[in-house]
Amino acid sequence: MRLDGKVAVVTGASSGIGEATAEALAAEGATVVAAARREERLESLRRRLEESGARVLTARCDVTDEDQAHELIRTAREEFGRVDILVNNAGVMLPSKVEKGFSDDWRKMFDVNVLGLLYATDAAVEVMKEQGSGHIVNVSSVAGRVSRPPFGVYSGSKYAVNAISESLRSEVVEYGIRVTIVEPGAVVTELTDHITDAEVREALSGEEFEKLRSEDIANAISYAVTQPQRVNVNEILIMPTEQA
Ligand SMILES: NC(=O)c1ccc[n+]([C@@H]2O[C@H](COP(=O)([O-])OP(=O)(O)OC[C@H]3O[C@@H](n4cnc5c(N)ncnc54)[C@H](OP(=O)(O)O)[C@@H]3O)[C@@H](O)[C@H]2O)c1
Repeated sequence: MRLDGKVAVVTGASSGIGEATAEALAAEGATVVAAARREERLESLRRRLEESGARVLTARCDVTDEDQAHELIRTAREEFGRVDILVNNAGVMLPSKVEKGFSDDWRKMFDVNVLGLLYATDAAVEVMKEQGSGHIVNVSSVAGRVSRPPFGVYSGSKYAVNAISESLRSEVVEYGIRVTIVEPGAVVTELTDHITDAEVREALSGEEFEKLRSEDIANAISYAVTQPQRVNVNEILIMPTEQA
């Protein structure tokens, strides 16, 4: 139980990678604060984790609302006294070519993937500074390294995550805070179900290679946050073998 006594906040814990990460960190002994907007999904996660003996708190949080993001971190600290790990996982992927003009989707992607991550990070850094330790894991994407149509705007949001994370690592090193970027390739989750552009949604559902599973990414996150303080796993790019 390498995370005994640690408190981990996971955003976007109601499904996919976030849910699997909450499970993986709880299995290592962490107290988990699982956040998202869909409370009934969080409830069933809580019941499952508690059955296996974990300490869990669920929190309804829309990360695009700065006050709610700050409240999430405040609640975690008030309940458990500290915040050791923040996994900024909440995200949306709504690809379409720019010429289609799906500007609502552009705003959503930057609101959730970039601003939501910043709001939670800002609040967590304040707590971690006081503690003199902490670990922020930002779930980016292979799209944060490579930009191809129709993923340009999504890529833009994930390039932003990478740029912010790289700089943040230097900003907070003096407080003993570590920053890790995790960049998955294709993972089987409900992420693609929400795509607005029907053409893109259909094209992606027709892909036949074997994708990663959420627990593959959760294992990578668990690896990063269980290293000794002297080790900062800066970045993990993890691809399905057949997507290489
Ligand atoms: N699946 C992939 O192939 C893949 C590849 C690379 C990177 N990623 C990244 O992995 C992360 C997780 O995605 P996933 O694949 O696990 O998809 P997912 O199952 O759709 O999970 C997305 C999570 O984000 C939450 N979320 C969305 N908007 C939110 C908001 N405004 N406030 C709070 N939570 C919000 C959702 O919860 P609620 O709807 O309940 O709020 C959900 O729990 C994302 O950052 C995504 O970009 C995924």
